[in-house]
Order: sequence, then structure tokens, then C-alpha cells
Amino acid sequence: MNIRLRLALGMALVTALVVVVVAGVQFLALRSFLSLSEHERLEMLVPTLETSLEAQLRSGTAPLKLTALPRNVDIRVLSAGKIVAQTNNFPAIALTESLGYRPLAKHNVLIASMDLSGQPATAQLASDLLGVLNPLRAYLRALAITVPTATLLVALLSFAFTGRLLRPLAQLEAVAARLGREGNLRLALPGAGQPDELGRLARTLQVTFAQLADLREREAEFTQAAAHDLRSPLAALKTRLQGALAGPRTPIELREDIGEALSDIERMRRLTDDLLLLAGGEREVQTLPLSLAHLTGEVVDRLRERTPDVQLDFETRGDTTVLGDATLLTHLVENLIENGFRHGQGADMQVCVVGESELVRLEVSDAGPGVPSAALPRLAEPFYRVDAARVGEGNGLGLAIVHRAAKVHAAELSFENSQPSGLKVVVEFRRGEPRL
Ligand SMILES: Nc1ncnc2c1ncn2[C@@H]1O[C@H](COP(=O)(O)OP(=O)(O)OP(=O)(O)O)[C@@H](O)[C@H]1O
Ligand SMILES: [Mg+2]
Repeated sequence: MNIRLRLALGMALVTALVVVVVAGVQFLALRSFLSLSEHERLEMLVPTLETSLEAQLRSGTAPLKLTALPRNVDIRVLSAGKIVAQTNNFPAIALTESLGYRPLAKHNVLIASMDLSGQPATAQLASDLLGVLNPLRAYLRALAITVPTATLLVALLSFAFTGRLLRPLAQLEAVAARLGREGNLRLALPGAGQPDELGRLARTLQVTFAQLADLREREAEFTQAAAHDLRSPLAALKTRLQGALAGPRTPIELREDIGEALSDIERMRRLTDDLLLLAGGEREVQTLPLSLAHLTGEVVDRLRERTPDVQLDFETRGDTTVLGDATLLTHLVENLIENGFRHGQGADMQVCVVGESELVRLEVSDAGPGVPSAALPRLAEPFYRVDAARVGEGNGLGLAIVHRAAKVHAAELSFENSQPSGLKVVVEFRRGEPRL
């Protein structure tokens, strides 16, 4: 059963229930009102009856007559326990009934005291129940028509109204289906400008779809760039091997060819390693308390050996314990220092690890040329190189890996140009549990 039908039936059911409850209360009120007015009507008859009988007694009329009675009322008059007057159809009510008004023998009965020529007497007035029942029956008949009519009307109106209300949902569904068919996640969703709940849903979906589209575009760019960067060393390798096979080669020439082929292969291996590291799919991240100063010191020692010409100062202060993944953090430090070596044009470098109360800060700076201010926000993008032609062997993935490692450790990564020149990279680790 669809929402429209369910809503219409629900509304109809609620209406029927409300009408029945209200009608029930009204029915009880009406019955008590009718019974009360019947009581008053019978009460008002007593003095008239008394006057009429008194007059008959004075004029010596016998037997006493009960005249000018209203419709549906029967009367019996008792004096000293005996019947002195009675209408023909008086119901079977005991002579000894006590005074008062109550239903007896399917009648509303009033038993009242009278005074007939100084003698105490009792008048028993009985009106059949029709005076009360007839209006109540009429009321119930009216209800039997109004309740189903009102229920049906509400069901029809709700059905029509919810149809109008749910129309934007149907439009949204149609556009969502088109979006799936065409794969265009940037399609405008109908109703996204409306201030109601459906409008909010459409807006949220539109924003989510746009984010998915961005993600898809970034992934496509990433894959294209990765494929492009793998193609160059592959093409170079192919040319080299074809060249080696083309004519007779001396063993020395062959060794040179193999050496160059190996360096192409090494470039491709580094690229695939970086891509795997960036994708984060290669291994689980494992965090342990470790000394960032100790880890950085080891990387510094290793890289100093590899590049002895560059002056690399290393300084550390305070407790530099962080909860971290040793492999990712080693890649982070390595990439930052290698960048200084590679892009800093041999200028002096400084690496500093400082432990403060709330955080541990790693700073890697060099006195090289730095990067243009406009390029600073883009440095961590995969495959971004400020000057691709000048860089040569770099893949443009080092800082993207640094960015991922910082993110995994919930650390803040920032780039700034230092004075008078050079790039300074700061990574701030908060103490405590990293958000993995
Ligand atoms: N210390 C630095 N001084 C000047 N430019 C830098 C420095 N570090 C990075 N850059 C610029 O930022 C770009 C991106 O750096 P990134 O480390 O991501 O890639 P890469 O060093 O070119 O290649 P690789 O993937 O091998 O690290 C570099 O190409 C370079 O233009
Ligand atoms: Mg790099």
C-alpha cells in the first residue's frame, strides 16, 4: 500500500473515531437533557391535576375523572392506599412506590404527593419512553449517515491532498532515476529551493551528489595522472630495450642499457609504492607511543649520509612522545627532508622537533628558493609540482603522502615561506589518541 493511500485511510480512520467519540458524548448529554425535561413536564402537571380533582370533589363528581391529559401521560391517584382515579393504560407500577422521579416498567415515572380536600394523596404520573427515545433514535439515524459520509469525504480529500503534497517526491524520484541513467551527478533536483522538509531533502541530496561528483572527478584526475606518470618510464624502458636489441652491443654497452633500464624500473617501483601508500590500502595503520625526536633523528642520519653536501641541522627539545604509526611517520619525515634536498638547491636545512604541553611540533625548513605564495595551498595535492619541467624525477606525490600521514594522526600540516627565502613545513601532533 503506498504512502498516499495509507495517509488517506489513516485520516479517515481518525476522523471516524473522533466523530464517534464526540457523537457518543453528545448522545449521553442529549439523553440526560430529554429525561430532565420529561421530569419537568410531569412536575408541571401535578398542580393542574390537583386543581381539577379538588374542583370535582367540591362539586361532588364521582367517580373522579382525569381530563385534558397531554399525550403519552397516564395517571393514577391514590388516597389512603386506595386508587381514587386512574387512566386506562396506566402501567403495572406498585401502589406503594416511594416519592420521586425514576424509570419504572418502561416508563418515566413521577410519584408526587398532593393534598385533596385536606387529605394526603399520591399522584403517580407515567409517560412512556417514546418522548425520550424518538429524538435519540432520530439522532442515531442522522449519525448513521453522517459518520460514513464524513469518513468517505475525509478519505477522498486526504487522497487528493496528499497526492498534491507528494508530487514533488515523484518529481524527485524521476530526476533521481534520470541521474542514475545518465550518470550526471550535477543534475539540479526539483524543489531544492523550497523551505519545507522535501526542499531540505532535495537540497541535502543535491549537495551530497555534488560532493560525490567532486570525488569522482578527483579520482579520475588521480588515475589519469598516475597512468600518465607510469607511461613515461615505461615508454623510455621500451625504447631502451628496443635500442639494445636493434644491433650488436658490446658487453659494456649492454651493461649500460641494463643499468638505465633498472633506473626506469626503480622509478616505476617508487611511483607504485607511493601510490599504494597514498591509497592507504597496503597495510593497516598501527599506532604505538613513540619518540618523534628519535624517529626523526634516525631519518636525518640516514639522509645525511646520502647527501653529505647539504648542511642539515637537527635540534630537539622536550618530551616528543606521540601515538603514531612508525612507518607512516618515517615516510612523512623522509619526504619533507628529501624535498629540502631536492628543491632547496643545496641551501642549508633545519629540522626541529619540539615537545610542548599539549602538542609535539615538527618543523622542516630550508633556505632554498621556496614556492610562490599562490602555490602554497596546492602543495599537498597528488601530482602537483610547482615547476614540473624543472623537477625531473619527482612524482609530485611526496607531500600528498605527508598530508595523508598527518591526517591519519589528526595532525595539523601547514606550509609557509620563510624569510629571506625558503620553505618551512610545520606538522603539529596533538598528544593523546590520534583519530584513525
Ligand atoms: N622544500 C621545497 N622547496 C621548494 N619547493 C618545494 C619544496 N618542497 C616541495 N616543493 C614543491 O612542491 C612540489 C610537490 O612536492 P612533492 O614532494 O609532493 O613532489 P616531488 O618532490 O616533486 O615528488 P616526489 O613524489 O618524489 O616527492 C614539488 O614538485 C616542488 O615544486
Ligand atoms: Mg617530494
